[in-house]
Amino acid sequence: MASNYDNSAWFYDRLSRLVYGKALINAQVYLLQFIKPNSNILIVGGGTGWILEELAKIHPTGLKITYIEISANMMTLSKKRWVADNQVTFINSAAEDVAATTRFDVLITPFLFDNFKEETLQKIFAHLHAQLKTGGIWLNTDFQLSGKWWQNVLLKSMFIFFRLICGIETSVLPDIEKEFNLYKYNVIAEKTFFGDFILSIAYNKS
Ligand SMILES: C[S@@+](CC[C@H](N)C(=O)[O-])C[C@H]1O[C@@H](n2cnc3c(N)ncnc32)[C@H](O)[C@@H]1O
Repeated sequence: MASNYDNSAWFYDRLSRLVYGKALINAQVYLLQFIKPNSNILIVGGGTGWILEELAKIHPTGLKITYIEISANMMTLSKKRWVADNQVTFINSAAEDVAATTRFDVLITPFLFDNFKEETLQKIFAHLHAQLKTGGIWLNTDFQLSGKWWQNVLLKSMFIFFRLICGIETSVLPDIEKEFNLYKYNVIAEKTFFGDFILSIAYNKS
C-alpha cells in the first residue's frame, strides 16, 4: 500500500510547525550546505516543496532538480514555489515507479523512509541507490529513537494519525541506517534536532 499525503497537503506544514516548531526545517536546511554549485539533484517526497525555496536561497541558479512526489495535492503546492533560475522537473509519481534515466550528484530524502515497512524501504532504497553517482552525496533526514520515552509516544501518535489520514503502511520505524551501512555509505556529517528525535546525515556513496 503506497502512502499518499493528499488528504494532509493543505494542513501538513502548519501541523508540523505546531508540533516541531522550526526543527523539521532546520534539520533539512542544515544538510543543504553539502550541495555543490551546478549539481544535478533528485528530491523524493518533498511534500509542499518549501525545500525548493531554501535551495534557491543558497543556489539561485545552476541547479538541475528532479522533484518526485507521489501526492498530487502536494505536487500542486510544490509547483507554486519560487525556484529562482534553477531548472526543476516535477514528476507526480511513486519514486519506485520512475525509471532512472540519469545519475544524480545529490539525493535528498526528507522524512520519506519513515513511511515504509522494512521490505518497502529496502526496495525503494535499492532503486534510489542505483540513481546516485559513485562519489555522490545522499542527504537523509528522519526520526530516530534515542531512548527517550516521549519520542515513542510522539512517533506512535504520528503513525496512528497518518495511517488514518494518509494510509501509511507502517506503525514502526524501519531501520534506515542499516540500509546505508549495507550499501557501504560513508558519513560526511551528522546532526540531531528536537532533543535527538530528528537525525540529519550527509552520506557519501563509495
Ligand atoms: C512525511 S512527508 C514529508 C514531506 C517533506 N519532506 C517535509 O519534510 O515537509 C512524506 C512525503 O513523501 C511522499 N511520498 C511517500 N511515499 C512516496 C513515494 N513512494 N514516492 C514519492 N513520494 C512519496 C508523501 O506524499 C509526502 O509528501
